Amino acid sequence: MLLRQTTRALRAASQLRLSPIVRMQSNEATTHFGFKTVKEEEKEQLVGSVFRNVASKYDVMNDFMSAGVHRLWKDHLISVLNPSKETKLLDVAGGTGDIAFRFLDHCKKAYGADSEASVTVVDINPAMLEVGMQRSKAMGYSDSGKISFQEGNAENLSNIPDASVDAYTIAFGIRNCTHVDRVVAEAYRVLKPGGRFTVLEFGQVENPLVKGIYDIYSFQVIPKLGQVVAGDAESYQYLVESIRKFPPQPKFAQMIKDAGFTLVGKGWEDLTFGVAAIHTGFKL
Ligand SMILES: C[S@@+](CC[C@H](N)C(=O)[O-])C[C@H]1O[C@@H](n2cnc3c(N)ncnc32)[C@H](O)[C@@H]1O
Repeated sequence: MLLRQTTRALRAASQLRLSPIVRMQSNEATTHFGFKTVKEEEKEQLVGSVFRNVASKYDVMNDFMSAGVHRLWKDHLISVLNPSKETKLLDVAGGTGDIAFRFLDHCKKAYGADSEASVTVVDINPAMLEVGMQRSKAMGYSDSGKISFQEGNAENLSNIPDASVDAYTIAFGIRNCTHVDRVVAEAYRVLKPGGRFTVLEFGQVENPLVKGIYDIYSFQVIPKLGQVVAGDAESYQYLVESIRKFPPQPKFAQMIKDAGFTLVGKGWEDLTFGVAAIHTGFKL
């Protein structure tokens, strides 16, 4: 009798001890990679292989997929940013440099030779940076001292000192990161007081008619285009899935606010029915 009670008590105690640990491990260790659930430590590698595979076709594929509309969104981001002739910009997940070159072109046009504006492009993927550096050379920026490229993780910008940049941009990059909250916290850390955090990211479309068309286009057409243009349907399947997993605009705006940024108004502007959105926060 005593033996049976002791065994039962031991079993109950061991279950009590074990179950929270098991639960904690499964909660802590997984995240999403598109619609798949993967271990957190695997996501960075999986995202890495997506952008390694598409790097050389990345720019041309953006034009195909969006019929050039991504260019208008990026131009709009720069006009919203409205840089001064001294702005020091950090463009994170900067990839092949689309934002950085627009920023430099804008400052050259607005301020001419007086411009002291400069940009650092940070990206985790050397293949994307390599394409960016080739473009920089072709555009005549590589010896200007106005642009530099660094390999780095948006979640831990260890080479960027505290309060050292005037503006921080991240375009179509943050949804690929494993811990979005860490990215936002790092942005807050590296910005000077008064600095501006600007995120261009895909959003959630609310209009049911537009959403229906957009979903068909995303899931039926984009992966096929990826296959034809970049020889890679899977990476573009990830792209459309990852957009659906990113927090909707109000939730992401709240994350920016929670990190300490001040929002103006609701904190974001929808572009093309919310297919994309520009979020802004100020470090005041
Ligand atoms: C869709 S591309 C966007 C590139 C560029 N900003 C643009 O708008 O064309 C996403 C980029 O995010 C980069 N990336 C993904 N995870 C990252 C991370 N944790 N830290 C830094 N860059 C990351 C990828 O390597 C890729 O270059």
